[in-house]
Amino acid sequence: MDPLLRLLFSSEAEELSALDRMAHFMLLMAALTFLTLLFENVPYGRYASRRYGFPVDARLAWFVQELPALAVPLCLVLWTSAAKTSRLPNQLLLCMYFCHYTQRSLVYPFLIRGGKPTPFASFALAFSFCAYNGYLQARYLSHYAEYPPDWVSRPAFISGSVMWLAGWLINVHSDHILRNLRKPGETGYRIPAGGVFEYISGANFFGEMIEWAGFALAAHSVHSAAFAVFTVIVLSSRALAHHRWYKEKFEDYPKSRKALVPFLY
Ligand SMILES: NC(=O)c1ccc[n+]([C@@H]2O[C@H](COP(=O)([O-])OP(=O)(O)OC[C@H]3O[C@@H](n4cnc5c(N)ncnc54)[C@H](OP(=O)(O)O)[C@@H]3O)[C@@H](O)[C@H]2O)c1
Repeated sequence: MDPLLRLLFSSEAEELSALDRMAHFMLLMAALTFLTLLFENVPYGRYASRRYGFPVDARLAWFVQELPALAVPLCLVLWTSAAKTSRLPNQLLLCMYFCHYTQRSLVYPFLIRGGKPTPFASFALAFSFCAYNGYLQARYLSHYAEYPPDWVSRPAFISGSVMWLAGWLINVHSDHILRNLRKPGETGYRIPAGGVFEYISGANFFGEMIEWAGFALAAHSVHSAAFAVFTVIVLSSRALAHHRWYKEKFEDYPKSRKALVPFLY
C-alpha cells in the first residue's frame, strides 16, 4: 500500500494536509446534511422509498456498505508503514475503532431480523462514507497522530474511553432489544422496552453518539471530532423521526419517554 500512497501524495506533509482537509470537508458535509434532514428523513429502514433507487437486501446492504470501514483500516495498518502503531494511545484508539467496526460489519448484518431493503442511493452513500472515514480515522491514528507519553492517564483520554465503552455497550444492547422485537420471518414494528429504551426512543442512536463523542474526546483531533459531529447530525435526526413515528403509530406509546436525551428531550 505504501507505493499506492506515494503515488497519491508526494510527501507526508501533503498527506497530512489532505487528511486535515478531508476532516474539514466532513464538517461541511455534516452542516449540509443537517439542512437536508430538516426536510427529509434518512431514507432507509421504515423511511425507505423507491425514489432513492432499487432496493438492496438489508443484510447484504449492511454487510457490503460497512465493510470498507473495516477493510480500508486493516489494509492501512497491515500493509503500510503505519509508523505510530507501536504507541499505546494510538493502539488503544485503533482498538476502539476496530472493535466497533468488527461488530458492525461482520456481526450486525447477519443478526438483522426482517430489515427493510435499503434503497441503492442510501447504500452507495453509506459505502462511500465508510471508505472515506475508514481512511481518515485509521491513517491519521496509525501514521500521524502524536500524543504526549502520559496521554492515556490524562482525564480527556480516560473519560473519553469510558464514554466510548458505555456508548458501545448501550448501542449493542439496544440493537439487540430491537432485533428481539421480531420473531423470525416477521417484519412489523413493536414498542421497544427495556434498557435505555425505557427512557428514550432512540436508545441505539444515543449509544452510538456517546460512543463517537467519547472517541473524539480521547483522540483529541479534528478528524475524530468531524466523525462525531457527522454521527450526531445523522443519528439525532433519525432518533427524533422515530420518536414522532412511534407516537403517531402507537396510541399506547409511553408518554414519559423522550426522543434522544433521557428525562430532557
Ligand atoms: N455512525 C453513523 O453515522 C450511523 C449511521 C446509521 C446507523 N448507524 C447505526 O447502525 C445501527 C442500525 O441503524 P438503523 O438506522 O437501521 O436503526 P433502526 O432504524 O433503529 O433499525 C435497526 C433494526 O431494528 C429494526 N427495528 C427498529 N425498530 C423496530 C421496532 N420498533 N420493532 C421491530 N423492529 C425494529 C429495523 O427494522 P427495519 O429495517 O424494518 O426498520 C432494523 O432492522 C444502529 O446501531 C445505528 O446507531 C450508525
